[in-house]
Amino acid sequence: MPLTRKAYRAAILHSIADPAEVGIEASYEYFEDGLLVIDNGQISALGHASDLLPTLPADIDITHYQDALITPGLIDTHIHLPQTGMVGAYGEQLLDWLNTYTFPCESQFADKAHAEEVADIFIKELLRNGTTTALVFGSVHPQSVNSFFEAAEKLDLRMIAGKVMMDRNAPDYLTDTAESGYQESKALIERWHGKGRLHYAVTPRFAPTSTPEQLTLAGQLLGEYPDLYMQTHISENLQEVAWVKELFPERKGYLDVYDHYKLLGERSVFAHGVHLCDNECARLAETGSAVAFCPTSNFFLGSGLFNLPMAEKHKLNVGLGTDVGGGTSFSLLQTLNEAYKVMQLQGARLSPFKSLYLATLGGARALRLEDKIGTLQPGTDPDFLVLDYNATPLLSYRLKQANNIAETLFVLMTLGDDRTILQTYAAGNLVHQR
Ligand code: GUN
Ligand code: ZN
Repeated sequence: MPLTRKAYRAAILHSIADPAEVGIEASYEYFEDGLLVIDNGQISALGHASDLLPTLPADIDITHYQDALITPGLIDTHIHLPQTGMVGAYGEQLLDWLNTYTFPCESQFADKAHAEEVADIFIKELLRNGTTTALVFGSVHPQSVNSFFEAAEKLDLRMIAGKVMMDRNAPDYLTDTAESGYQESKALIERWHGKGRLHYAVTPRFAPTSTPEQLTLAGQLLGEYPDLYMQTHISENLQEVAWVKELFPERKGYLDVYDHYKLLGERSVFAHGVHLCDNECARLAETGSAVAFCPTSNFFLGSGLFNLPMAEKHKLNVGLGTDVGGGTSFSLLQTLNEAYKVMQLQGARLSPFKSLYLATLGGARALRLEDKIGTLQPGTDPDFLVLDYNATPLLSYRLKQANNIAETLFVLMTLGDDRTILQTYAAGNLVHQR
């Protein structure tokens, strides 16, 4: 293969540590006139243009951006592909919302053509919003995951997904059985897990929709293959928490249900966690599990406010999730806009650098992929974005008043959305151009 080397010159910013652990100043690197060099499908250098340019051949292909910021691709640690068609459904909280809107919408994935059409729309929407890696819920139908992985593979995206397992408390047209859920998941794992940049996640929807038999088999699957992910929901809504108590009276609490069935671990991601207690945070941290913080969803479904300071106290890994269609935007910038307000309502703060961390390196750590994605460190995958300071007239005007990168970053997260994403690169290839 011929050596392919390319360089990108612009302002460049990435997160290199959690501000909660090292302080804000040590948590990021910023190059006002930076250069990112890609060699044969890997980032090979990152630094000040003035330092790196003399080390490169004179004829190297350099793309130079003005009024733009290069960052790592964004990481969405919780999203539902089959809910693309029902974002912004009116009037209900979690359990009624599932029955009224979600289950009917997901049932359409029994049709292969529908699954293929939505997979295509969904992936385009991720890339338009600068999301280069996502942890994705399919529907109960294996076809939802096959269509998604087929489309992701064509673009060489790093993606994680799984078919929903649910064998009770849902309409008959949308349930599997403990045995069929296990076998179908196994077939998907054999086909996709570890293929290129794709990974599989065992996906019991949440404790109320799986029998103890199904949860047992989900735990068994995790033991059968290395590095499998597990994704589910936890403690999102108070009615849901009460229902889990009724269904599993012998368990100490919601998290203990998952713990009992061996679903906690380093590649386990629990969505929401709004009503987790201190002990549960400690147990999640102890097992290396992660939580997906989904602010737009938690506001939209009236679920509550995620306690990020409590998670930080326990050194719990936290990523950011859009939770489309409970969440109302594919944009992780807009998700951070709402995350800031979640903290404000609790008398806490969310610094722009913590926000950047949550959407990039924090997400990568939650997924145990920090050696591959989430930063622009040499040796990692070239998944990165070009953000446009002039994306809208207001953004352009507002950013002219910003005095430093902290202010610029905060404004990008407050006013930014899909329009801000000028280009998205995955595996070094241009996969979205505004
Ligand atoms: N809990 C169980 N299923 C779902 C879902 O599809 N969305 C959200 N937000 N919570 C859930
Ligand atoms: Zn969800």
